[in-house]
Amino acid sequence: MCGIVGYVGRARGVDGVAPKDHGALDVVLEGLRRLEYRGYDSAGVAVVADGRIESRKKSGKLVNLLNLLAEDPLPAATIGIGHTRWATHGGPTDANAHPHLADGGSLALIHNGIIENFAELKQELLSRGHSFISDTDTEVAAALLGDTYATLVAAGTTAKPLTEAMQLTCQRLEGAFTLLAVHADQPDAVVAARRNSPLVVGLGEGENFLGSDVSGFIDYTRRAVELGQDQIVTITAETVDITDFYGAPAQGKEYHVDWDAAAAEKDGYPSFMEKEIHDQPDAVGATLLGRSAPDGRLTLDELRIDPKLLKTVNKIIVLACGTSAYAGQVAKYAIEHWCRIPTEVELSHEFRYRDPIVDERTLIVSISQSGETMDTLMAVRYAREQGAMTVAICNTNGSTIPRESDAVLYTHAGPEIAVASTKAFLAQITAAYLLGLYLAQLRGNKFQGEIKDILADLAKTPAKIQQILDNSGQIKDLARSMANAKSVLFLGRHVGFPVAMEGALKLKELAYIHAEGFAAGELKHGPIALIEEGQPVVVVVPSPRGRDSLHAKIVSNIQEIRARGAKTIVIAEEGDEAVKAYAEHVFYIPETPTLLAPLLATVPLQIFACELATAKGYDVDQPRNLAKSVTVE
Ligand code: G6P
Repeated sequence: MCGIVGYVGRARGVDGVAPKDHGALDVVLEGLRRLEYRGYDSAGVAVVADGRIESRKKSGKLVNLLNLLAEDPLPAATIGIGHTRWATHGGPTDANAHPHLADGGSLALIHNGIIENFAELKQELLSRGHSFISDTDTEVAAALLGDTYATLVAAGTTAKPLTEAMQLTCQRLEGAFTLLAVHADQPDAVVAARRNSPLVVGLGEGENFLGSDVSGFIDYTRRAVELGQDQIVTITAETVDITDFYGAPAQGKEYHVDWDAAAAEKDGYPSFMEKEIHDQPDAVGATLLGRSAPDGRLTLDELRIDPKLLKTVNKIIVLACGTSAYAGQVAKYAIEHWCRIPTEVELSHEFRYRDPIVDERTLIVSISQSGETMDTLMAVRYAREQGAMTVAICNTNGSTIPRESDAVLYTHAGPEIAVASTKAFLAQITAAYLLGLYLAQLRGNKFQGEIKDILADLAKTPAKIQQILDNSGQIKDLARSMANAKSVLFLGRHVGFPVAMEGALKLKELAYIHAEGFAAGELKHGPIALIEEGQPVVVVVPSPRGRDSLHAKIVSNIQEIRARGAKTIVIAEEGDEAVKAYAEHVFYIPETPTLLAPLLATVPLQIFACELATAKGYDVDQPRNLAKSVTVE
């Protein structure tokens, strides 16, 4: 939700040191390119050069800003800030794009988040003679900062007016925000602040960086500093100073970024989405790596919660949004089956506002690719306040949700750039399964041998995913032939139900087609009324070798919809000849135990949505209206 970059480099030739071969604008634009997944309603940059702020901004994707810069270039500079926006206050227009200027054009500010008391502040500033040209809360924050800066300078009481003005301003702001500011009269520093919104510092040699996440500066350094809540950081080419909102010195935590710029590139695929779909064998493999001993004993050392406490857990609540919530729904089946602990899955934004029953024996498992989703963060905070233990399953090192949880189990999917989640989903299921098995091991619900067998099956999944990827021609052909579909329904049972919902979500997100996922058993209670001649229905069929009569039941469901004219597209296990008679199209996935089937059955659905959206000419990496990391509630 908005991408933010800041940069200060050593002035060219200063102290006889060779200049960097990149200027501020190169760094900022490269950072924005990498952060564009966070929002692409508009983009803008500001640099300080020759004692002035120079700024350019444009609605639409980053390319529009690049075109503007080609027509109307900015001067060379060693300090700059940049923003890519996901609109909240005010539509995606040029005027609402960031940066916003204040103090007579001498100060530029960019912002991620929402300032909740902006209306009240705006009134106050209007009554003091300020005027506004945009509809944004950001312009109000800029005006307040500019006003405070001017007052401090007039009083002549501080050597660091921008830092101090930022402190005073933040004391007055409510809501969630990351702010970055530069001032023409302080041309050696970018000052930034964060509350409930992400910000990381990148440490270079004779240069320092700021980013919404490390991809904002990954081309230049892999040394990063995590900032805490309510902190302000002032970076110059040589220094990084952190304080709280009241000026007291504070500390950040330095860490090394363990992926490089190449990992965030497309690797020759036409889109990040396709690359990430193909990364899935590695994402699952890496998430399993190093987490069990040869005898099958799980060694989740990073779970720093005392095992004695974990043994007391009597309820698990999984909190997540979007695709991550479907990963949670899949995990519920396995966790309850293995651990015999009642497990609920709840959308984070619903959980917090319904007075949920949570206490010290509740284990909250939050699932978030980004680790920054505001709804999930707030729900985790609420649960902690109620005394619950909190574990985060997260793909982003150093992000807020794991930092604020008692423990974290990282998924090792590598950077996920495409807005619609794919590889993070499979890695989340894998990590949640490891957690479930670990709890079963601790509580003695499962024999060591059983855990070892499940781990062995999990270890075989990357090769099976690869097999699906290698044989994806048939599903791609079908997807292309369905580019004109108006609506597609998805059915599943048991773990196939969340897979069906995830398949439908992918199609909505990428191809803008109406799609719904249903529990196949629920069909006859309402959704079957939607079936008419030619209605495409994708059915996720469980293994015929599986337990109970799941397979037989879903085959009956297929017959029911076919009798009413549905065109059935079936995902089934290799060797399941029975379904052929009832399907227009069958896609086979390798044999696997029922609980592990989502790790395979999801893959053809991702490919289907991606290919269909591509056939319609849509940008699968940046679908309309969406953002990857939703840092507003
Ligand atoms: C956004 C993205 C989804 C993602 C969801 C949760 O809505 O578009 O792809 O599943 O956020 O994100 P998280 O980072 O918490 O997993």
